[in-house]
Amino acid sequence: MTTTLTPTDTDVDTAPEGIAPWFVHDRFGMFVHWGLYALPARHEWVMNYEKIPTEQYEKYAKYFDPDLYDPRAWARAAKAAGMKYVVLTTKHHEGFCLWDTRLTDYKATNTPAGRDLVREFVDAVRAEGLRVGFYHSLLDWHHPDFTIDGRHPRRDDSPDEIARLQEGRDMAKYREYLHGQVRELLTDYGRIDYLFYDFSYEVEHHHPVWGGKGKDDWGSQELLALTRELQPGIVVNDRLAIPGDIVTPEQYQPSEPMTVDGVEVPWEACQTINGSWGYFRDNHNHKAPELMIRMLIDGVSKNGNMLLNVGPTARGELDAVATHALDAFAEWMRRHDRSIHGAGASAFEAPVDARYTQRGDRLYLHLFSWPFEHIHLPGLAGKVEYAQLLNDASELSFREIDPSTPALTTGMGGQPAGTLTLQLPVVRPDVAIPVVEIFLREGAR
Ligand code: GLC
Repeated sequence: MTTTLTPTDTDVDTAPEGIAPWFVHDRFGMFVHWGLYALPARHEWVMNYEKIPTEQYEKYAKYFDPDLYDPRAWARAAKAAGMKYVVLTTKHHEGFCLWDTRLTDYKATNTPAGRDLVREFVDAVRAEGLRVGFYHSLLDWHHPDFTIDGRHPRRDDSPDEIARLQEGRDMAKYREYLHGQVRELLTDYGRIDYLFYDFSYEVEHHHPVWGGKGKDDWGSQELLALTRELQPGIVVNDRLAIPGDIVTPEQYQPSEPMTVDGVEVPWEACQTINGSWGYFRDNHNHKAPELMIRMLIDGVSKNGNMLLNVGPTARGELDAVATHALDAFAEWMRRHDRSIHGAGASAFEAPVDARYTQRGDRLYLHLFSWPFEHIHLPGLAGKVEYAQLLNDASELSFREIDPSTPALTTGMGGQPAGTLTLQLPVVRPDVAIPVVEIFLREGAR
């Protein structure tokens, strides 16, 4: 048995204990991966994939000049797309910091950018009325105390060279740095609503020779306590290798609501447009916008959020593909956001090629394929007061066909008892995913 987390109204008064209600309500956020890796423009792991030594990689800092950086434009695009929170990489695994940290010189202020880019981001996101989130990398391939491990760019150097590189490295000092930076980020920028730590690889991605890193390396207990102390009510993910507030399936769609020890937990799928998080010029493996809209719906139908990533260019702009996708979301969400915000899983069983979400007495039927004139909804007979297409609020009729009626030459047969049959127009509404809004009778849910 799992407990259910379906929010019943915009206040989400049934949000599970311990999780900020806004998070379960809002359902949709924007992830922004931005750092020096936008310059090589071939994946945010380029330093690791191409085993680039630190001194060589540092050259990108010299050329980092995001003259078109306009976080207001990012925030506006997010808001129009129906996203309610925006999460920026303050530091990715490469170690470069977008804010004016006091703890390293490897930061935006020492590049042609010449200023604290996190500050501008935070101000812009707040100005649009959105919630502010940070992504912070636990790994750091630039820091001199961060020991070489199986995920480090230098992992394949000769054993002698690795021994030389390891000399004097001290994870205790790195931990101090990590905690110190988190303290800065959670102290100097006002209220921070969300923190995505990334990631632990002691167990799941363990390296046979050089091992991985996990909760003891990060000082996870202390770091989580510090996080909550500085920002009470913040939503923290589960990648410190100790339980957080949410679980974070990455680049796949869970097949049902996620559980831990049989108990349903709040979850958020993080998804990319093309498989890469950072800007990747030559990667054209784009998901169609319609597919991404389906992914959002599919997640909400299982009580999940979606954090959709964009990787701005080194000039600071969203690229055309991201803009196109966000525009498609905006166009769809403008008419359909009430099937997403404040909605969650339904106890009713959706027909084939469809997904239900529910918000109180409203049941939303999302039609991934458009059937010919009729759709049969199990278990809904006698429970529906009214139905309409959500895109234009045009009425849809429905009936319950006597189950004993046989299918005849010109007459549809009855469906299993309890089935309600909706009548649809032949012409599919011209929207990415058509939605039927169903008003349930009192007591029907
Ligand atoms: C992974 C990757 C990373 C990305 C993150 C987003 O753990 O290390 O590059 O930032 O997932 O969830």
